[in-house]
Amino acid sequence: MADLDDLREGSRFGEEIAQSTDGFFMKGCNNMDWGMKDRMSRIFNPRTGRSVMLAFDHGFIMGPTSGVERIDLSIVPLIEHADCLMCARGILRSLVPPTSRKPVCLRSDAGSTILTELNNNVIIDVQDAVRLNASAMAVMVAVGDAATEALTIANLYNAVDAGQAFGIPVMGVTAVGKDMTRDARYFGLAARVCAENGSSIVKTYYTEGFEKVVACCPVPIVIAGGRKLPELEALELAYQAIQCGAAGVDMGRNVFQSEAPAAMIQAVGGVVHNDMKPAEAYEMYNDLRASSQSCFQPQPK
Ligand code: R5P
Repeated sequence: MADLDDLREGSRFGEEIAQSTDGFFMKGCNNMDWGMKDRMSRIFNPRTGRSVMLAFDHGFIMGPTSGVERIDLSIVPLIEHADCLMCARGILRSLVPPTSRKPVCLRSDAGSTILTELNNNVIIDVQDAVRLNASAMAVMVAVGDAATEALTIANLYNAVDAGQAFGIPVMGVTAVGKDMTRDARYFGLAARVCAENGSSIVKTYYTEGFEKVVACCPVPIVIAGGRKLPELEALELAYQAIQCGAAGVDMGRNVFQSEAPAAMIQAVGGVVHNDMKPAEAYEMYNDLRASSQSCFQPQPK
């Protein structure tokens, strides 16, 4: 019952304390609506402003490539260590437990595979992203690829329009055009094109001069890991990117193809959230790896 009979007059107005007008913690996101900011805060840790996104969307273009043949065995045990999951909707519905309570950056374009020409894509219906409670939609953008550049940029801005209607941020994923040089000038251009077309997050690759790529991109950047490297090198890559201003990693193969994936994702987390130096994070990786090997491992039937 509302206390209509004994309505108490408010007395705690705190008139002497001005209401905070602090901005939002992620760059370029201050003018977002509440739902967008809420989703960004699920992906990026408000304490550090950074995120360890676990990418396992590779199968949607490559099929059961190494490390993602059995998502239930290789990826699900890593979920607890990730800040955000990046995958396609089929894998999400079939194998990711909805009880994981992790934000999802949903792969939201689909089309051609490695067997033909990549990036001839369309975007999924935003209503499916809403149904899946996606915290972001990821869309590939092939800047510099004559065959698919216009199509993929159109995909991006259409996804941004659709996402805006429901408060879902879009992550522009830079696919490197076939003839492009992987340098800061190219990645700076590609990242900026994504941001100019409305991306709230940009995913790209680390390269020398990465601080320029970060500086000219008005929204947070995360880096993909790329092909599998020795663990120490992958940690160095993450460290360099973070020190240049990246807001995190969206890493796949360097985690799930590692000799000890759970140890690796935790070491990456140390670099991303605690500014651990690569050598220190590598020590952490080795310690975790050794302790997990000494535990009893149930054998498959
Ligand atoms: C690329 O578009 C794929 O979607 C992957 O999500 C991305 O490359 C990150 O994975 P990796 O760290 O294996 O490169």
